[in-house]
Amino acid sequence: MAEQEFKGFGGITLRAEVSGSPDDPAVLLLHGGGQTRQVWGDVAASLVTAGRQVINLDLRGHGTSEWPPDARYDLDAFVEDLKCVLAQLPSRPVIVAASLGGWIAAAAIGEDGGHLAAGLVLVDAPPEIDAAAAHKVSESLRKYAERTDTKKDWDPKFLKGMDLEAATRRVSAAAENIKLPVLFVRGALSELTPADAAGRYVKKFENAEFAEIREAGHMVAFDRSDLFNATLLDFLERRVPRFMPDYRSGSDARTLRDALGCFATGVTIVTAMSPKGEPVGLTANSFTSVSLDPPLLLVCIAKTSGSLKVIEEAEHFGVNVLHIGQQPVSNAFARPGEDRFAKTPWQRGQKNVPLIGGALVNFECSRHALHDGGDHVILVGKVERAKYEPRRDPLLYFKGKYRRLHFA
Ligand SMILES: Cc1cc2nc3c(=O)[nH]c(=O)nc-3n(C[C@H](O)[C@H](O)[C@H](O)COP(=O)(O)O)c2cc1C
Repeated sequence: MAEQEFKGFGGITLRAEVSGSPDDPAVLLLHGGGQTRQVWGDVAASLVTAGRQVINLDLRGHGTSEWPPDARYDLDAFVEDLKCVLAQLPSRPVIVAASLGGWIAAAAIGEDGGHLAAGLVLVDAPPEIDAAAAHKVSESLRKYAERTDTKKDWDPKFLKGMDLEAATRRVSAAAENIKLPVLFVRGALSELTPADAAGRYVKKFENAEFAEIREAGHMVAFDRSDLFNATLLDFLERRVPRFMPDYRSGSDARTLRDALGCFATGVTIVTAMSPKGEPVGLTANSFTSVSLDPPLLLVCIAKTSGSLKVIEEAEHFGVNVLHIGQQPVSNAFARPGEDRFAKTPWQRGQKNVPLIGGALVNFECSRHALHDGGDHVILVGKVERAKYEPRRDPLLYFKGKYRRLHFA
């Protein structure tokens, strides 16, 4: 998780918490007025788990973002801030916006042709709000703002900034121009958002779905984050699916490598003794068990590997499965130009095969077969001996990174 700064309207500094991988499709979270990005805590975590990058923004005058010295809190200023942030993002996010945040997002996207975002989720944010309920909410915010005993996490001046009537007209008109996939979420117990007004609003969009979250009031994502998250993830998977990289024969090797990297493996060091009595070895995760009777395993070694000649000519070789503490060994045996055995404890096996000390398993094999495998050689060994340590966790390798076992 990292904090990122954006330049907003008039040069003010807006701050967002960014989590998840930049390779994943982005979701921009906008909280409501008189709240901060903290309200999205559970939602942000579940989006990251589901493979989305999350940019959780504090609106101007709220939370960690700058409180504008000129106290501009009209809808225009918020909308311009959002456009500035979107222009600074590398890709078009889905915007998930609650209450005032929803007004800002609808106005920005509706008035700008919809190319700014990939989708829009509006949380209890229709333009027609129940006047009595709205009065109650603004009164309670005002009382909070007048209190002197608490440190404010939003600027009390924000309450004076908005011309509600003009804003509702603007937001309502904007909806008719929005062609993106839209999800409108209403809290079933929300006093602020009458069900019929929500229904009328949803009809204005070309492409909107409606969901109601039971047992939730206006603060839907806070009141029932579990139900809200399920609804949100379902919408995202259906309407704004994650890009699935696709390898076709002949297209780039990188995509194929990434596809193959989705298969989680352990990590081994393949070893052999040179005729001069010098140990050689390299890191390999292409290990596979092949047969129990006869007992066979295989590893694939690149034809460019400097160790290949010794290994394929040796009558015996070793395969050493690494434990979770042996990542430095894996790194040393994958780096060229290093005296790999100088730093690593090892012993000689029965047939003089170098065996890595402390490994999870040491397989000692006789050479059974060599097969051509494209740019690799497939080395099949007959297991002569396997000594293993049952009480240790393995070092894992997945999607180009070392991993550890995790039991949920
Ligand atoms: C986790 C991991 C797995 C690897 N798996 C293999 C493999 O299966 N076969 C292979 O030829 N190289 C593999 N490599 C790359 C070699 O370890 C690396 O190219 C090494 O420098 C080769 O050493 P050499 O040229 O001295 O033989 C792997 C590297 C890492 C980090």
